[in-house]
Amino acid sequence: MQSKIINILNRNFKNPISCLATYSSAIAKILDGNIDMILVGDSLGSNLYGMKNTQGVTLDMMKRHGKAVIKNIKKSITVVDMPFKTYENKNHALKNAKDIINYTKADLIKLEVNKNKIPIIEYLSEKRINLIAHIGVTPQSYKDFSKIRSVGKSTLERKKLIELAIQLEKSGAKAILLECVSRKTAKLISSSIKIPTIGIGASEYCDGQVLVFDDLINLNINHTKPRFVKNYLDFTKISKDAVENYNRDVKNRKFPSKKYSYS
Ligand code: KIV
Repeated sequence: MQSKIINILNRNFKNPISCLATYSSAIAKILDGNIDMILVGDSLGSNLYGMKNTQGVTLDMMKRHGKAVIKNIKKSITVVDMPFKTYENKNHALKNAKDIINYTKADLIKLEVNKNKIPIIEYLSEKRINLIAHIGVTPQSYKDFSKIRSVGKSTLERKKLIELAIQLEKSGAKAILLECVSRKTAKLISSSIKIPTIGIGASEYCDGQVLVFDDLINLNINHTKPRFVKNYLDFTKISKDAVENYNRDVKNRKFPSKKYSYS
C-alpha cells in the first residue's frame, strides 16, 4: 500500500493527480481505478446530510462512510477526512486518526490546518500516519459557507500560506490540499515545496485536482455552487425526467407490465 501512495503522490509534473470526493459504495465502484485518489470528505455533512456546515460531522459518520467507500476500492488510493474538533491536541488526534484508519483501512487521512496545528501534523507523521494537510479556505472554520472567500490575494496572506506549506512539508505531510487559493499563491506554493499540491478552486498551478463527485454530476442539494465547480453531467435534470416518466407510468397503469411481474 505504501508503494501505491508513493507512486501516486510522487511528484510528477507530466501526470497530474486526479481526485474526487465521495461518500457511498455505489459511487466508489464507479470511481475505483478511474481516478488516482478517492477522498471521503466531511463535505458529506452538507452534501449528504443537508447540514448547514461541516461542524456537525462526527467521527462515527466518517468511519461508517469511509468503510462503505473503501471496501469497494482496490486500485485508487484512499483518504478520509478527520472531522471538526477530533484533532484538538496530539493524543486526541492520534487516537482518532488510528480509529479512522483501523476501521476504514484508509491509506491517508486529511486534516484542515493552520499554523497552530503544525505540532499535531509533526506528531502524527512521527507515528507513521500518512496525512494530507488542507490549507487556504478550511471549511470547518465556517458556520456560514456564504462567508467563504478565496484567499492568498494579498502579499501578507500569500507569504503566510507559503510559509505554512513549507512548515507542513517539513512536518511530514505527504501532500497539501489548497482550497480557494489565488492562482499566483498556488503557483508559488507548488514551486516552494517538493510534496504535491492538490487544488480545489486553486488553479492549474497545482499538481493535482479534486472536486466533489456530487458537484461534478450536478447532484447538489445546496443552491449556491462555488465558482470552481464544473458540471460534467446534469444528473438532477436526467433524474427528474426519469422520475416524471415513472410517475406517469404508475398513474397510467403502464408500470408494472407483465415483464416486471412474477407469473
Ligand atoms: O470534504 C471534502 O469533500 C473536501 C474537498 C472539498 C476537498 O475536503
